[in-house]
Amino acid sequence: MPKSVRDIVSKKNSTKISVITAYDYTTALLCDKAGIDILLVGDSAGMVMLGYENTIPVTMEQMCFFTEAVSRGRQNAMVVADMPFMSYQASKDQAIENAGRLIKAGADAVKLEGGHEIKDTVRSIVEIGIPVMGHIGFQPQTTTLQEGYKVQAKTKEAALKLINDAKDLEKAGAFSIALEMVTQEVSKIITNSISIPTIGIGSGPHCDGQVLVIHDILGLYDKIKPKFAKRYLELSHEIIKAVETYKNDVTSGRFPAKEHSFSMERSELERLKKKIA
Ligand code: KIV
Repeated sequence: MPKSVRDIVSKKNSTKISVITAYDYTTALLCDKAGIDILLVGDSAGMVMLGYENTIPVTMEQMCFFTEAVSRGRQNAMVVADMPFMSYQASKDQAIENAGRLIKAGADAVKLEGGHEIKDTVRSIVEIGIPVMGHIGFQPQTTTLQEGYKVQAKTKEAALKLINDAKDLEKAGAFSIALEMVTQEVSKIITNSISIPTIGIGSGPHCDGQVLVIHDILGLYDKIKPKFAKRYLELSHEIIKAVETYKNDVTSGRFPAKEHSFSMERSELERLKKKIA
């Protein structure tokens, strides 16, 4: 049984929540087997899966495609899907319709970037029964347009705004909030001042859970290497080594060997040879 909103929320103040991004069936299957609580179909897919410079070009069709694949691979984890840029900003109707499309594609909840300015949108989605995870602090869809990659909540004013954003999202009915690149002091204050879990990314140890991009922890993506993304493997080196060895085996004739090939019965081969002759 996939984890429910209630399961996730009940972890606050008891067990830390583990979240990892996934964009395809096989990765979802493996992360689910590893016991991850939430698989996030992040719009970071646009960068690490599709090669865009940022998340802005990502479409609803692409997010539905990735969400379908991930939901087929999971058994126990909750699946949360990102609503891409301009899939929820134009109107509440647009937001509800697109949130519904992601749920039909297999998500259990959706994630939207924004605080105070999207609280009514969040409420509309929650009211029709779709769980929402908020996302404040660094917001990849828009912060990059304004100021580039920058740690958030470094001043008293910025911190107060973020704390109010978190409270607004809680009041609007969000079941959790992702905090991206927020100073650890402010993450702690937010975590202690709301009753729903905070999921940190680059926001220090005080959040109720942590999320990272799978390509970062596996060492598969080198274009951006955030300080906060702990690399557990350098898989790109291993992949390049394996593919080089395969290529050399092909060009030298070492592959395929006998054990990789199929044979006809000798008698059938003889009959064939006679026919051809
Ligand atoms: O798209 C994504 O992967 C995300 C995480 C960085 C939180 O939103």
